[in-house]
Amino acid sequence: MLFNESGEIKQASLESYPADSYQELKEEARQCERCHLRQGCRQVVMGEGDTGRRIMFVGEGPGADEDRQGRPFVGRAGRLLDKILSAVNIKREKVYISNIVKCRPPDNRTPTRDEMKACSPILSAEINLIEPKVIVPLGSTPLKFLVDDNLSITESRGNWFNKGELYFLPTFHPAYLLRNSNMKKFVWQDFKLIKKSLDRIDEIYA
Ligand code: URA
Repeated sequence: MLFNESGEIKQASLESYPADSYQELKEEARQCERCHLRQGCRQVVMGEGDTGRRIMFVGEGPGADEDRQGRPFVGRAGRLLDKILSAVNIKREKVYISNIVKCRPPDNRTPTRDEMKACSPILSAEINLIEPKVIVPLGSTPLKFLVDDNLSITESRGNWFNKGELYFLPTFHPAYLLRNSNMKKFVWQDFKLIKKSLDRIDEIYA
């Protein structure tokens, strides 16, 4: 798990990343060779979006389209995410979207715990920079890595979890929805909640 119960990031190596400089962080991520995933992918896929809005969406890791284009969530799942966001009136470019790992795992497999840990200083630096009040884990992998290993996405989605001042609202990964369209109704509920909390965040931090 990346956070302790008080909502503090547990990674000690974070200080080496210049969280106050997004460009430097991106550059540092681009040069990262902390794990072997970098050798098997075309490029490092950093998170993208508005770093000033105090909300983050976190997926698992880049797939083939993301690896080609160098941007998160641009393939089929990403297009569905865009549709869901726009259905609740959230502009994609006005929120920050990232992944646990920034390099595509071979054959789109789930990243291993070691790979996630190796990549976590980058995610931690993104989190430190954005200071989110709400993080939306997209699917089981980020839910377990960010909140609690023992949680199931089916039971957890649509429920709030908090660590200190930080709140998590997990929902299904859009790729899962592509295979299980009967689950879209739940995600619709979740995103209505997300939109509500984003409006509240905007009120507080505007
Ligand atoms: N799935 C993810 O988890 N992240 C992406 O960027 C694309 C697909």
